[in-house]
Amino acid sequence: MDSTRHRRPDAERFWERHYRTRRTWGTRVNPLLAEIAAPLRSGTALDLGCGAGGDAIWLARQGWHVTAVDISTTAVERVRERARDLGVADQVATEQHDLARSFPSGEFDLVSALYFHTPFPLLRSRVLRTAARALRPDGLLLIVDHGSTAPWSWNQDPDIHYPTPHEIAAELDLDPAHWSVARADTPRRLATGPAGETATVIDNVLLVRRSAG
Ligand SMILES: C[S@@+](CC[C@H](N)C(=O)[O-])C[C@H]1O[C@@H](n2cnc3c(N)ncnc32)[C@H](O)[C@@H]1O
Repeated sequence: MDSTRHRRPDAERFWERHYRTRRTWGTRVNPLLAEIAAPLRSGTALDLGCGAGGDAIWLARQGWHVTAVDISTTAVERVRERARDLGVADQVATEQHDLARSFPSGEFDLVSALYFHTPFPLLRSRVLRTAARALRPDGLLLIVDHGSTAPWSWNQDPDIHYPTPHEIAAELDLDPAHWSVARADTPRRLATGPAGETATVIDNVLLVRRSAG
């Protein structure tokens, strides 16, 4: 029997361990997702790298039908449990994917990728291009990345470069006839870490709209 068939890739093992050892962090909505999605008419949403599901559950409670995707089985199971406990199970579909290998099917009015970072190699721009193609006409792709190092960040490398929203847009290389940049900026906010500590951090925000026609 081929023993490698059942071996879990490093990225999946890493994120499994992460969610098995952290029970509560990440269950709140990200402020930028709330700010951007609150004025929208609810529809179908896809949350890439949903983690503990703070964004997916918030969207469901605003009336969205959400597909929440993560590489960690524990994360998606927790999102499913929380959706059930909060009475929004019929609005939250959970799928386990390594997005480097597979992508959920469907079309979406909103695709969110909040802090979709990983210490493992990932052709993120390829995943995000696929996400842009999964948008319905007039749909939005929201990418929020770290733009600064928080005291609790796993990577404290002082030379780290955080790609700017314009650099990320350039990497996506989307056809301007079909997609346009609706927002690209770097707001600051007061963030809370896993032990309750606070610090001012920068977010790199890119919002892409698929054209209506
Ligand atoms: C930094 S966390 C952000 C989680 C959540 N979006 C949030 O804002 O709290 C990155 C998430 O991406 C997921 N992830 C990392 N690599 C992935 C991959 N290849 N496919 C799917 N999910 C992945 C991780 O399991 C983790 O939940």
